[in-house]
Amino acid sequence: MRVLIYSDVHGNAEALAAMAEAAEGSYDTSLCLGDVVGYGASPNQTTQWVREHTKVVIRGNHDRACASLDGIQWFNPAAAAAARWTHAQLQPDNSAWLQGLPAGPLAWEGEYLVHGSPLDEDEYLMEAVQAAGSFAATSATCVWFGHTHVQGGFALLQSGGESRLEALRSAAEPPAPEARAGVRRFQLEPGARYLINPGSVGQPRDGDWRAGYALLHTGEGWVEFHRVPYDLEIAQRRILEAGLPPRLAQRLAAGK
Ligand SMILES: [Fe+2]
Repeated sequence: MRVLIYSDVHGNAEALAAMAEAAEGSYDTSLCLGDVVGYGASPNQTTQWVREHTKVVIRGNHDRACASLDGIQWFNPAAAAAARWTHAQLQPDNSAWLQGLPAGPLAWEGEYLVHGSPLDEDEYLMEAVQAAGSFAATSATCVWFGHTHVQGGFALLQSGGESRLEALRSAAEPPAPEARAGVRRFQLEPGARYLINPGSVGQPRDGDWRAGYALLHTGEGWVEFHRVPYDLEIAQRRILEAGLPPRLAQRLAAGK
C-alpha cells in the first residue's frame, strides 16, 4: 500500500494544491498529522480539502487553538493574531470538524501518528536527546510526527547488539523556484525504528520554501521525502490582503 503522509498545511491552499497535483496517482490512502489551519489565508479551503481527501487526520495545536481558542495564550503574537483571524473565518462545519479531530498518538495499520511527539502534542522534536526520549516512550516501529516543520527525523538502527541514533536526510535543497520537485528515498531497515517528519506543506522551516510531504510504501518498505514548488506569491499576497501579520507572508519565501 502506498500512503501519502503530510502535515502542517497551515491554511496555505496554494501549497496544498501543489502537493495534491504532484502526488496524484502515487498513493492509495493518506494521513495528516495536524495543523490544517493557522498562519495562512485559506483556512476553509484547506480544511475542506483535507476533509474530503484524507483517510486519517489527527489534530495539531493550531487546529485546537483556531477552532476553540484553547491554548492561544501560549502562542507568539503573530500566531495568536492568525489564530483569532482564523477562528473568525472558519465556517461552522469546518470549525466543528477541526474541534472533533482526535489528538495523537493514534495507531493506524502499524503506523503511529503524533503531532508533536509520542509524549506531548506540543513538544518540538528537534534534537537527538528528544528523539531518544520519544523512542523510549513507545515501542512503535515507525512514529510519524509534524509540528517542527522540518522534514527529516531519526532512525534507531541496530547492529552487533548495539543501537545507534542517526538523523534522516530530507529532500530540502537551497531555494530554487525553477528546480524540479526534490525527492529523496530511503529504505526502512528490518529491526530499526524510526521517527519521521514528512515536513510542512504550508510553512516549511528548514530553509527550503517548497511544500514538503512524504510517501510510504508499506509493502516495499521505503519512504520518500518530496519537495514541490507552489505559487508562493499568491499565498503571500492573500496573507497581506487578509490583514494578517506581514511576517507570515515573508517567512514563506525564506522557508523559516
Ligand atoms: Fe505547525
